[in-house]
Amino acid sequence: MTTAIDQHEKIAEIRSRFDRLPRVRLALLPTPFHEAPRLAEAIGVGRLFFKRDDLTGLAFGGNKTRNLEFRMADAVEQGADVFVAGLEVHSNSARQVTAAANLLGMSPILLLRTDGPVAWQGNVLVDRVLGADIRFIETTDKAVMDRALANVAEEQRQLGKKPFVMNHNPSFAMGSALAYVLCTLEIVEQSDAAGIEPTHLYMASGNKGHAGLLLAKELLGARFQPVAISQHYADDRVSGALDGVRAAAAALGYETHLTEADVESYDDFVETKYGAPSQRGLEAIALAARTEGLLLDPIYTGKALAGLIEHARTGKVGPESTVVFVHTGGQPALFSFADALLDAFPLAEDARI
Ligand SMILES: Cc1ncc(COP(=O)(O)O)c(C=O)c1O
Repeated sequence: MTTAIDQHEKIAEIRSRFDRLPRVRLALLPTPFHEAPRLAEAIGVGRLFFKRDDLTGLAFGGNKTRNLEFRMADAVEQGADVFVAGLEVHSNSARQVTAAANLLGMSPILLLRTDGPVAWQGNVLVDRVLGADIRFIETTDKAVMDRALANVAEEQRQLGKKPFVMNHNPSFAMGSALAYVLCTLEIVEQSDAAGIEPTHLYMASGNKGHAGLLLAKELLGARFQPVAISQHYADDRVSGALDGVRAAAAALGYETHLTEADVESYDDFVETKYGAPSQRGLEAIALAARTEGLLLDPIYTGKALAGLIEHARTGKVGPESTVVFVHTGGQPALFSFADALLDAFPLAEDARI
């Protein structure tokens, strides 16, 4: 049996391994942890807690701030003065990257993938406020994006700058997994302080953050089940999570024995496509807002809560369960999808201004 002292020592030991990794501090940690009893009752789970990674502190916060602590360390180490990133037009990542670059004294340049005219709302509006040098690119081809990033870097070198390019290299997956090992350690400590033992950890994740939850569970020998609700349809939900687990374990000097059977991930709640709101996601947003005054987003966390609601409805997560929902942020997208929200939440017939 694991005692509280064993667990405390294990957590300290895992944390000590992180001290050897290159890292810059960006997030306000630990993020808050609180119970949501009215939502738990509405959904029909025993107890429900929120881990507020939407409050990591950097320009509206979100899960990416944690992984940037690892991903931006190289740029700082190399003395970069320009930080170049290629991401989706409405990316939460782009917003947090821009804010982090500012904080670290690097000029942010964003290459944002778009497939049409851009509405200046949500994340892309915040990117502008933050002063990113924004350039749009219409392509779905990673090679084209990589060439464009290389061209921007060359342009900056010609100007006498030291650019650092962040693209979709494997350090993205590893940084996210490492980040969410640390987040899980916080959850375990905060659960302990609250006198609870979680049965499930729900999180909006394709596979990257999910990998961290899985590895932390293995390292701690914990009993909770990490459950990922994916924001997109992808074949690598399970294999990608295991790749992330292995990369993070190797970076920390641990062995991992996790297999596909340990990975629980669902893409049933995408409902539409990546980047588009879903009916059940909007209903979940309304429920969280109207029971707890808590805002979720239409692309990630609303869909993840829709997953939990459905799992509670079907009895997969029972009334005896204690669920921790990792809120990964993304709320600026509420403003980008104002039309969908207005349709979903009509005013009363007799509303007058
Ligand atoms: C708000 C939010 N939630 C969840 C995710 C998914 O994170 P990952 O698939 O990297 O675990 C993202 C990633 O972009 C995000 O912005």
